[in-house]
Amino acid sequence: MRRPIIAGNWKMNKTISEGVDFVKEIKHLGDNTDVEVVVCVPFVSLLSVKKELEASNIKLGAQNIHFEENGAYTGEISPLMLKEIGVDYAIIGHSERREYFNETNETVNKKVKSSLAHDIKPIVCVGETLEEREDNSAKEKIKTQITKALEDVSKDDMKNIVLAYEPIWAIGTGKTASSEDANEMISYIRNLIRDKYDEEISEEVRIQYGGSVKPNNVTEIMNEPDIDGALVGGASLKKDDFTELVRF
Ligand code: PGA
Repeated sequence: MRRPIIAGNWKMNKTISEGVDFVKEIKHLGDNTDVEVVVCVPFVSLLSVKKELEASNIKLGAQNIHFEENGAYTGEISPLMLKEIGVDYAIIGHSERREYFNETNETVNKKVKSSLAHDIKPIVCVGETLEEREDNSAKEKIKTQITKALEDVSKDDMKNIVLAYEPIWAIGTGKTASSEDANEMISYIRNLIRDKYDEEISEEVRIQYGGSVKPNNVTEIMNEPDIDGALVGGASLKKDDFTELVRF
């Protein structure tokens, strides 16, 4: 049985004090151990949020990570720094990072490997544009992204990876993929994992859906057999919405 994982991606929202106040109000959500709850917060808030979550089961995630441990990379944050804070997860290859900060499949792969080497679990994002969906090249795009992201990743390491299928056209737009379409793509991704590794790992790997997940569609999405969780932007910023998502 794959344990569902609901992760909030705050993106560039909430100051440190706002973030701490927020997790104070939601930290009891970690009491339900049937679901893994993660909050991915801005770098500057990680330490304070971590302290606030000390006695909670809620996991902490970063929204990015650099692949080197240190060096002349102005403005970047290394896995060693994140590890010292006690970060559990790092989102890697979010479409906003790929689009606005020129992240490529190659840097995503480096980040995945570095993150694993430092015991930080990657949440690896893939997804197609509307154009790619309409011209039927979505699966090809996803296949390339998955194959490149997981290059030289061993089966053992694969056990520590979470994948997130996020169609770009559904992010922050209020449009969601139908739950059937999302499930179809996620099942396709699961097959790619089976082909690359084996049946066992493909049944074990958790694959989230992301893109305008809200309280009114989360149940339907989570009822799909291959969807193991949600990566949530907008609705993760509001206490009541996030609570409903976790209780899908
Ligand atoms: P959204 O964002 O829920 O606001 O669509 C999802 C994401 O970018 O992970």
